[in-house]
Amino acid sequence: MPTITFPEGFDWGCATCAYQTEGAWNEDGKGESVWDYITHMGNVNPGPNGDTACDFYHRYMEDIALMKELGLKTVRFSIAWSRILPEGKGRVNQKGLDFYDRVIEEMLAAGISPLVNCYHFDHPLALQREGGWTNRDMAGYFADYCGLLAAHYGDRVKRWMVMNEPWVFSGGLYISRMGDWATGLRAMHIVALAHGMATHAIRAAGKPESITTAFDTPGIYPMSDSEGDRAAAERRWRMRDAFFIEGVQAGRYPEFYLNGDQEELLGVQPGDMELVKAPLDCLGLNVYAREVIAYVPSDPHINARAVVPPDGVETFYGMEVYPEAVHQVLTRMWGDYHMPLWMTEIGCNYVDFPDANGVVSDDRRVRFLQRYFAQMHRAIQDGADVRGCHVWTIMDSVEWTAGFEMRFGLVYCDPATQQRIIKKSGHWYRDLITTNCLQY
Ligand code: FCB
Repeated sequence: MPTITFPEGFDWGCATCAYQTEGAWNEDGKGESVWDYITHMGNVNPGPNGDTACDFYHRYMEDIALMKELGLKTVRFSIAWSRILPEGKGRVNQKGLDFYDRVIEEMLAAGISPLVNCYHFDHPLALQREGGWTNRDMAGYFADYCGLLAAHYGDRVKRWMVMNEPWVFSGGLYISRMGDWATGLRAMHIVALAHGMATHAIRAAGKPESITTAFDTPGIYPMSDSEGDRAAAERRWRMRDAFFIEGVQAGRYPEFYLNGDQEELLGVQPGDMELVKAPLDCLGLNVYAREVIAYVPSDPHINARAVVPPDGVETFYGMEVYPEAVHQVLTRMWGDYHMPLWMTEIGCNYVDFPDANGVVSDDRRVRFLQRYFAQMHRAIQDGADVRGCHVWTIMDSVEWTAGFEMRFGLVYCDPATQQRIIKKSGHWYRDLITTNCLQY
């Protein structure tokens, strides 16, 4: 069995998110968020929602003790914009600020480095009523909100994340899910603008050691070796991953659009790119699986489409296990940008329950993590400067519209009783952190 170790000082951690864990959706002055709204809309037959979630809002002390028990060096968590600014701008909710003061102080006391993510999909509903990410004014609102966070928490929080997965809630939502190219392209630029302005605001208000963002970066592979497929995969890579990274690092967008003036469709106005450009200190990469891309001339926009992987192995609920994607993404990002890299999410959905002895034997997750970490290590050996990895996620939580039917945690959580049990994978991860010795 091969044994490997990671570089000294490797940042072992986990990532989590406000909407998915906190609950207390309308407590202590919190405003309604888009995700509260989306999950409450089906009120004839209510589906899963984050009303209670893991009840982290009330159980944060117990849960931070668990994080310590897991040996985590860093925990990346997000702040709910609607807890701080119930309407998204204007009036500040002191009780919301106080809550994250308590969380941050508890983490610091537990010896855990808090990495604050300003935005994980859950903007205030009041701002959605103004158009959400399709409204240019969002950029200014977001920058003001991030500046406020940095001014308030910056004395204790040194590591900041501007946002999670900018592609997912702009192009991913409007183009991939809704097929609306015009809106999607506009939203992508507005999100990039917001990102740049917020990065400047965080730097100006606090004294951050580092600012990053978690980009949504599956490995992108051509369906075949043909020139058409390879060029199509490259357009997809540029549109999805390189778009935001090159925007913020270099102040220009890569070319990917075939049918029209890309800048005009994006809605780029004079002076915008100077604001978009706000280089990050390191790149955060969320890698779960891969996208296989084929050349499809009937697609009028980029002549490319994602196809079902020919030989894909799937986990429960359709997410493919494809460890090589980790190596592909890390080595490409290192080659293209030469910046410190963090795996800001890897993880898998396997639904395992406690047995009669209260033991959760999620062997598939252990195997999955072994294989993903092994590919990370391979990338390090190939020269990529990978500084850390944050596993998604600490405990089973509300997986958006799927609720607790999808489970990504190292710790089992029963939403009915709020009982927590460290799974086999949690014990395995703690041992890996302690020994820095991976056998796979
Ligand atoms: C990521 C999201 C996170 C969670 C995992 C499974 O893309 O950032 O909130 O849903 O997927």
